[in-house]
Amino acid sequence: MTVHSLLPSHRLCIAPMMDYTDRHARYLLRLLSKHIRLYTEMITAGAVCRGDREFLLSFDPQEHPVALQLGGNDPKALADAAQIGESFGYDEINLNIGCPSDRVQSARFGACLMAEPTLIAECVAAIRAKVAVPVTIKTRLGIDHHDSYEFLTNFVSTVHTAGCHTFIIHARKAWLQGLSPRENREIPPLDYTRVYRLKQDFPHLTIVINGGITQLAQASEHLNHCDGVMIGRAAFDNPYLLAHADQLLYGQQEVISTRHEIVKNYIPYIESQLAQGVPLARLTRHLLGLFHSVKGGRAWRRALSENAHRQTAGIDIVQAALENVIEED
Ligand SMILES: Cc1cc2nc3c(=O)[nH]c(=O)nc-3n(C[C@H](O)[C@H](O)[C@H](O)COP(=O)(O)O)c2cc1C
Repeated sequence: MTVHSLLPSHRLCIAPMMDYTDRHARYLLRLLSKHIRLYTEMITAGAVCRGDREFLLSFDPQEHPVALQLGGNDPKALADAAQIGESFGYDEINLNIGCPSDRVQSARFGACLMAEPTLIAECVAAIRAKVAVPVTIKTRLGIDHHDSYEFLTNFVSTVHTAGCHTFIIHARKAWLQGLSPRENREIPPLDYTRVYRLKQDFPHLTIVINGGITQLAQASEHLNHCDGVMIGRAAFDNPYLLAHADQLLYGQQEVISTRHEIVKNYIPYIESQLAQGVPLARLTRHLLGLFHSVKGGRAWRRALSENAHRQTAGIDIVQAALENVIEED
């Protein structure tokens, strides 16, 4: 049994974020906390089944616990993709029922599938028939005018009957027309109390709350009402906030690494990835926010963003930038 299985599995999760939570970001975030649960970017079932699997799915063993988020609406394709994901070692298969983008809607998956709970139940059942790891759902409070509490509970009950026991709820609804994905993360108001009520009414389910959470103190407060908290944007704006997670949210007594130590621990990983041909900028972009609100943080960000793109860019750029950030806190 791993130490992770002894701790509540979804207490603090880092949200799946396209173009952000790639394997390099996840490796860095794992250096900040041993226990947070990490999610991949959404990958479509079709891409997993027909694309370059090694490129899309491989990850470092250090990343555990790590969940694969899939997008799609075809039970068989999702089940096949989940099986492939499980064979790569993912700890969970998560289905995206929350993305409102036009591209995702035109392929009829993401948030619009909230209106088709029976189909989602079929997808969950098909995936569960093929994998042993948990199958979870990430969704919203509702879509368009389907925003009553009953709509949400009907969705949750229907999908639960197929064997999904964990629901991650972005605590706002999505408008499928007229708002960009970015606006859909800002404009529909957050309603945390609705998620709390869901937990009260479905006490046997694991309910994880998401949306607008930027501090561990807020996460801690939400944990009085829900089983877990998922943090998205704050994890890339200010990743160092996660350095205190193991102590504050998991009751672990490990020494908290400084920002400098985190960078030094990430450097061997950068070097190994550079040796495999990964461009430096793909590795350093996740470091940009590390010195957020710290004296010298802007110079750090500038030094990395201006220099890491250069063709000959090597690890010396990170080392030089680090030497110039004097303050630890
Ligand atoms: C750049 C970006 C990409 C995202 N990509 C995904 C995704 O692939 N799958 C998904 O379920 N949600 C995605 N989201 C939504 C986040 O997972 C999360 O639900 C949302 O940002 C709200 O949480 P926050 O307020 O803590 O950021 C994305 C959000 C951002 C900012």
